[in-house]
Amino acid sequence: MKNKIVWGLAVAGLAGMVGGATAAEGDRLSGKAKFYTCAGCHGIEGYSNTYPTYHVPKLAGQHADYVVSSLKAYATGARVHGSMEGNAVTLSDKDLQDIGAYVAGFRALNVRNAVTGNVANGKKKAETSGCSGCHGEDGNGASPNPRLAGQYENYLMKVLEDYKTGARKNAIMNGLAGMLSKEDIHDLAAYYASQARGLSIVQDD
Ligand code: HEC
Ligand code: HEC
Repeated sequence: MKNKIVWGLAVAGLAGMVGGATAAEGDRLSGKAKFYTCAGCHGIEGYSNTYPTYHVPKLAGQHADYVVSSLKAYATGARVHGSMEGNAVTLSDKDLQDIGAYVAGFRALNVRNAVTGNVANGKKKAETSGCSGCHGEDGNGASPNPRLAGQYENYLMKVLEDYKTGARKNAIMNGLAGMLSKEDIHDLAAYYASQARGLSIVQDD
């Protein structure tokens, strides 16, 4: 486990530099215009997906290259979600870069989500399971690992369940989530969701 964590940190550091360069290629203003169709779901506080019910993930402040790679995964069907596939499949590489730059460019707001899991247990679990090595101690780790801080608790629970069952595929996350109990997942989600400095919904002043 220790090696895995060190490796994760090294990869996070290297890719962080690449991520910065990628973000710089995108044009925020064009990205804002291209995000128009997305804002109906991603720009509304507490907006929910139905069946199953969970909040549409927050994107503001997310790493640009993770946003790009997620959209590519929906477009190719590597990651499955009906409406996201439809939204992603029409985007060009330039659109992806611009949207990535736009959403990544938001500052963290000092807002704390209400959570239902046990935050203290989640914090401990994040340390002992090695999550912090890649996602950062508070969930604001470097690219390519997605930021988790401030994300909705029920979305984090949903995707950890998806990794656990294999519905969402990523070799590292499938292995780690497979070892988590339902309670671990709830508490980890609560811990990251309860961070004040983190992701927010995409909304311009
Ligand atoms: C009908 C509502 C809806 C619309 C419109 C929509 N999304 Fe989404 N989006 C979702 C939901 C729900 C998810 C979570 C799906 C899942 O569980 O994988 C999601 C996931 C994502 C993710 C992955 C987030 C993460 O943390 O992994 C990205 C990136 C994203 N959307 C970007 C966009 C962009 C860009 C557009 C516009 C081109 C868009 N979405 C339009 C509902 C929507
Ligand atoms: C070796 C690095 C590494 C470790 C350790 C790690 N993760 Fe991840 N995590 C990633 C990467 C990379 C992704 C993006 C994978 C993908 O595209 O599906 C990810 C994705 C996620 C997501 C989905 C985020 C989103 O917006 O949809 C969650 C939640 C998550 N990890 C939680 C955890 C938790 C909890 C732990 C500890 C049990 C953990 N991770 C350990 C690298 C790591």
